Amino acid sequence: MVQTKPKDPEKSGRLFGLGVGPGDPELITVKALRRLRESEVIAYYAGPRKRGNALTSIESWLREDQQRLPLIYPVTGRPPPPPFDYEGTMRAFYDASAERVAEHLRAGRDVAALCEGDPLFYGSFMYLHDRLADRFETEVVPGVCSVVASASVLQTPLVYRDQTLLVLAGTLPEADLERMLANAQAAAIMKLGSNFEKVRRVIMALGLGDRALYVERATMTNEQIRPLAEVDPTQVPYFSMILVPGERWQAA
Ligand SMILES: C[S@@+](CC[C@H](N)C(=O)[O-])C[C@H]1O[C@@H](n2cnc3c(N)ncnc32)[C@H](O)[C@@H]1O
Repeated sequence: MVQTKPKDPEKSGRLFGLGVGPGDPELITVKALRRLRESEVIAYYAGPRKRGNALTSIESWLREDQQRLPLIYPVTGRPPPPPFDYEGTMRAFYDASAERVAEHLRAGRDVAALCEGDPLFYGSFMYLHDRLADRFETEVVPGVCSVVASASVLQTPLVYRDQTLLVLAGTLPEADLERMLANAQAAAIMKLGSNFEKVRRVIMALGLGDRALYVERATMTNEQIRPLAEVDPTQVPYFSMILVPGERWQAA
């Protein structure tokens, strides 16, 4: 690993929160790519023994001399039940991650923190932002979020004119999903994984089965689009989404 030199010990580095888009390396913005290539340190979240989708999607843009800073989640998937302290464990992890990033910033190195999609839309960068943005010069570069990327690959207009889009996490209790979806004009349901069967049950019960569209890993090389009824619930990845597009406008 190449060591980077502090630019000026008195001057802190800058923190860039970069939205890297939904997976296709070409869906990073020109601005995020410029900031990525300017940064000496590349910080990214990943599961144990994994590279993380954010790094994977933009690795082809990195140089050898850019230092990688993996931030490895202590828990992934469904959290263990109490007495395991999930919130406390994650808080300690985010505190420690922020301090690892801060060490580089204090040493004058610019750090690019990668985030799938957009950094401030359910993005992991938010936890670094909360802890560091008032201590160090910080810039957030928006990214193409998975909701609009999914609509693009599904080739479906998502909302017409004055329709409202509801964005939901599939992790919500079934009764909440049902109550909220019952009144939705259009919806995006994220965080499926092991929650898929529950979400599909709600969609079918509300008579939305004909309108709902499923995609996994939109824009990635292993993207899959399947009819909702044919999805095997045991095989649904976390990076998947169901869209219920708004009713087509009469003039469309
Ligand atoms: C923690 S959120 C991150 C959202 C991200 N910041 C964004 O702007 O899209 C993770 C959820 O985003 C959705 N997601 C992210 N990338 C996706 C992709 N390429 N295809 C489908 N869903 C995706 C999935 O529903 C996943 O559970």
